[in-house]
Amino acid sequence: MRNRWAERIKKLPPYLFAEIDRLKEEQIANGVDVIDLGVGDPDIQTPFHIVEKMIEAVRDPSNHRYPSYYGMLDFRKAVAAWYRRRFGVTINPESEVISLIGSKEGIAHIPLAFVDPGDIALVPDPGYPVYRVSVVFAGGNPYTMPLRLENGFLPDLSEIPKHIAERTKLMFINYPNNPTTAVAGKDFFKEVVKFADKYGIVVCHDAAYSEIYFDEAPVSFLEIDGAKDIGIEFHSLSKTFNMTGWRIGFAVGNADIIRALGHVKTNIDSGVFQAIQRAAIAALESDEGVAQLSRDIYRRRRDIFINGLKQAGIKIFYPKATFYIWAHTPSGYTSTDFALSLLKKSGIVATPGIGFGSFGEGFIRFSLTINEDRLKEASDRIGKLIL
Ligand code: MLT
Repeated sequence: MRNRWAERIKKLPPYLFAEIDRLKEEQIANGVDVIDLGVGDPDIQTPFHIVEKMIEAVRDPSNHRYPSYYGMLDFRKAVAAWYRRRFGVTINPESEVISLIGSKEGIAHIPLAFVDPGDIALVPDPGYPVYRVSVVFAGGNPYTMPLRLENGFLPDLSEIPKHIAERTKLMFINYPNNPTTAVAGKDFFKEVVKFADKYGIVVCHDAAYSEIYFDEAPVSFLEIDGAKDIGIEFHSLSKTFNMTGWRIGFAVGNADIIRALGHVKTNIDSGVFQAIQRAAIAALESDEGVAQLSRDIYRRRRDIFINGLKQAGIKIFYPKATFYIWAHTPSGYTSTDFALSLLKKSGIVATPGIGFGSFGEGFIRFSLTINEDRLKEASDRIGKLIL
């Protein structure tokens, strides 16, 4: 029997990375030696001390019951201490932090707290697909903020018409940026604070890649005066500590926004397994060398792969952060054509820029979450395909 799906999900495209996974599996079933540079899922293992803490915490029956909705106070205190150490920002662990089942979960739920049907939410394009979808789920209208190369992939806020800004309830921004790898500085964040304050907009800054950088450490949005009056920041342990499968992240910032998100979540989920929160505390208390180890690995991979792409004649936007390469598609290819050719003719999975929105057309994203030999092999195959 065919069930009658809700209009809300009939309109929904397949999740970008689920669709790419499906195409990848087809190739593997055909016996192709696939090199997966698609989803940003670190291949480096979760550090040993975090795994050990998890084992210990799983054995403790006090962790087996429902967790607290907003996260254990110990976890929230560890987040506040990390914020102070890393960004010099003071966070009240009682009211300005909430645990998330991965930052994706918080991002997907936050529009339900602020966006009513017909309201506008500003979303970056290209951007992580969840921003747009979560606004649509809430009945809102996503309004595109184009991220253009000539602007360093920062949105131009002066392009947003006044009548749109006046109807806007929420905006998503994301730096270091996925997929473009761009980094934002304090000047941009100051503009955002001023704009959001003027129009009463809730700012949601997705900072999932804040610890994957190659030169200067990126700043937090919350370092800006007034930011905590209008916004929150999302973080994930997935990329910093190679914990994508563990599903833990957090949001930090304005107490009222955190409370509103918590209000939605308490009605939907029951928090994060306490053993995972205990392991996350160990992660947040890690020596700085732990994240540095990953950065060193990604830096080497970045340099090897960029060199290979250069030899293949592919132009890139030089990444200062994240573990992605945002590259121009060769002339004569749309991003979808190029991604399909890569998969079908070279056995390489990459993400077409159009998958992140129409302003992603003309680009393709490669993820550096695979070892140096395979990256070298991938760039050789790309060279053979297009040269
Ligand atoms: C990506 O590849 O863009 C992300 O890893 C997807 C995700 O975090 O859900």
